Amino acid sequence: MSAPVLTFFNNKGGVGKTSLIYHLAWTLADMGKSVLIADLDPQANLTAAFLDEDKIEVLWNDPKPGSTIYQAVKPLTGVGDIANPLLRKISPNLHLIPGDVELSGFEDTLSTEWPGSMGDNNLYRPMRILSAFWQVMQLGADQIDADIILVDIGPNLGAINRSVLIATDYVVIPLGADLFSLQGLKNLGPTLRSWKSLWKKRIDNWNDSPDANGHPDLRLPDGGMHPIGYLCQQYGVRLDRPVKAYDKWVKRIPSVYRAAVLNENPPSQVPATGDPHCLATIKHYRSLIPMAQEHRKPIFKLTAADGAIGGHAGAVQDARRDFQELACKITDLIEALEDI
Ligand SMILES: Nc1ncnc2c1ncn2[C@@H]1O[C@H](COP(=O)(O)OP(=O)(O)OP(=O)(O)O)[C@@H](O)[C@H]1O
Ligand SMILES: [Mg+2]
Repeated sequence: MSAPVLTFFNNKGGVGKTSLIYHLAWTLADMGKSVLIADLDPQANLTAAFLDEDKIEVLWNDPKPGSTIYQAVKPLTGVGDIANPLLRKISPNLHLIPGDVELSGFEDTLSTEWPGSMGDNNLYRPMRILSAFWQVMQLGADQIDADIILVDIGPNLGAINRSVLIATDYVVIPLGADLFSLQGLKNLGPTLRSWKSLWKKRIDNWNDSPDANGHPDLRLPDGGMHPIGYLCQQYGVRLDRPVKAYDKWVKRIPSVYRAAVLNENPPSQVPATGDPHCLATIKHYRSLIPMAQEHRKPIFKLTAADGAIGGHAGAVQDARRDFQELACKITDLIEALEDI
């Protein structure tokens, strides 16, 4: 059995992916799930949310095999094999595969191995490298008997992200209500479908090759990449931007999501409210966000001692409820699909 992998993805940057994963991971862990978080963004912002700078400095300046995602896959670039990841325990139910700015150096290896994986022979090395992120995450999940793996990635359609999506069972798409987010969504859907079909060709090619008989132990991810919905964030609403402009883009999201991501032929006007594909609208948490970052905790764990007093205290409770609702929705969707 492998643990389900859930990736938050949008090639438009700054749409709140990292903040969402951080808060959802804590919520799921508090609900009793064993959660593994993998920071596969070379910017390593999620790692910085969990670990203070001193710890990250030690991780990066005194690396050990498996101590970061890059250190786990690096042996593959020479003659070695994947290193078992050394997980960081954040809480009893929450563990992290730390990110690494050096991961960007793996992009070239992944690009080089992509065509090689469609050849007639010597397929083991390319297939092992292209599925390396999945292998590392599953090795990590086995250590803690993870119920779910949450993955953060950077905002682009490069070779690292292609390999992450190959390793992904379920995709959630965070969006802003603006032209750039909608345009990003239009690229994202076709890209996901193309990666999915190209990976399927590679799996078929591997299964038909003599290399597969020589390596019966190599498990490969399905590359399911099943989109389970989108999240719309309100905090992109600039104070100087009229509400009308926000509404205009929000109204367009449901039909663009259906056409670009689900490859459906939607009617020209899909109602913006009550869209079943919209998992939640993420509120603008204003000063709670910097307060939470300063205290290195999720906003719903802020206390009066941290400065969450007056109106903030109510907002903290609201945030707890909002994230619990979202976490339940996501786990229900995944559990329903896992049973199929
Ligand atoms: N709900 C929110 N309310 C207010 N500010 C938010 C909220 N979510 C995120 N932010 C802020 O918006 C900025 C971008 O968020 P975040 O880093 O999570 O986005 P991202 O999609 O991961 O970005 P990138 O594409 O660079 O990885 C950060 O400064 C974050 O603190
Ligand atoms: Mg991010």
